[in-house]
Amino acid sequence: MDDAKRAAGIHAARYVENGMRVGLGTGSTVHHTIVALGERQPDITCTATSLRTHELATSLGLIVVDPDTIGHLDITIDGADEVDGDLNLTKGGGGAHTREKIVAAMSDRFIIVVDESKLVDRLGPFGTPLEVLDFAPGVVAAAVQALGATSVAVRAERSDNGNVLCDAHFPPIEDPVALAAQLSAIPGVVEHGIFPGSMVERVVVAGTDGSVTERTH
Ligand code: 5RP
Repeated sequence: MDDAKRAAGIHAARYVENGMRVGLGTGSTVHHTIVALGERQPDITCTATSLRTHELATSLGLIVVDPDTIGHLDITIDGADEVDGDLNLTKGGGGAHTREKIVAAMSDRFIIVVDESKLVDRLGPFGTPLEVLDFAPGVVAAAVQALGATSVAVRAERSDNGNVLCDAHFPPIEDPVALAAQLSAIPGVVEHGIFPGSMVERVVVAGTDGSVTERTH
């Protein structure tokens, strides 16, 4: 599967051109995009969605500044844990979804890189990552369960922001955009891992047979 991740990651790097302001996602697939950019050394300025991406990109000689400094992005490339037919995404397997969503929202173009195992009919089987304030995580979990989650599991590790990370398990999600709004309305949910397809320009999908295809709206 790493060959497929590498193929998708390298394919997406071609969308980055000199002069661009670039958002760098987090995970093992976009890792290959960042390495490809490090090898090519385009004239770009980047912002990173996690401390580990910041470390990787700077170690490869890319210029990385914070989001407030860069202000606006031409393009962001990131991975995903699930992609449905409308390009709705589950993200946050690596716990970086809050920063990833901020950076995606700063971008004119949001490009996703996945291997084919991430394609699903409906979001849900992976679980829905949540970043939660460490004040009343049990109260927040109960509110999430009231929306239909069968369980909410707390991860051992915290986010880069110091908050609690959880995974909510819903039955197949019929309306991700509606659930996203409901989760956002729960006090104490810092951010959830549902990204509406309307944010996404294209999804680069690599197969285990070596194929690379793109999905757009
Ligand atoms: C991190 C993410 C990642 O993009 C997502 O987990 C995909 O990672 P990978 O490419 O390693 O499968 O959302 O928070």
